[in-house]
Amino acid sequence: MKGNAKHKNGSKKTTSSSAPKLTSEKTKSPQAHNDRGMDATDLLIKDHENVQDLFAQAERAGEDAQKKAMLFAKIRDELQIHTRIEEEIFYPAVADLPVDRAKDDIERSLQDHEEVDDLLDDLEMLSPDDSDFDERMAELMDAVRKHIKLEQEEVFKVARTGLGEEKLQELGREMEQLKESLKEQKMDSEGAEASE
Ligand SMILES: [Fe+2]
Repeated sequence: MKGNAKHKNGSKKTTSSSAPKLTSEKTKSPQAHNDRGMDATDLLIKDHENVQDLFAQAERAGEDAQKKAMLFAKIRDELQIHTRIEEEIFYPAVADLPVDRAKDDIERSLQDHEEVDDLLDDLEMLSPDDSDFDERMAELMDAVRKHIKLEQEEVFKVARTGLGEEKLQELGREMEQLKESLKEQKMDSEGAEASE
């Protein structure tokens, strides 16, 4: 969902600024259900780990503009696909739960996505050589890490309790399928751009 509202400055949440714990809140590893596919929260946690890994690589890229551009493209694609599968499949299921906290958590998560979308749009307009690029990238990392913390410490707990494992598996399968088709679309459009 692309919102018009800007959240760059006004949307800093009051949650702790400590870095999100990636896996310590979990009771099972993402590999635990490989034979049946990952459940929805495991799949999203795996996405979070991938993007955090890309962030670490971006932080190590220094002044290598080519590397920074390549990593930004990967980060953008990861985040855009992650946002779509959450907004189309996962969030509606959580928001439908008869729990006040679920609706509130999803509202906050959608606001985070808008903030991330805006930062991605800003970065898209910049070259890695521009002085603003690193600053915007740092803002993007902050916003995403804060969002990961919200999801892993609150939203996923509500989802696990309210939806149950069977529903989470079903949503996980749907999300996996949508993810694959979005990846293909991205590869097709990159191929079309390259041949122009
Ligand atoms: Fe998200």
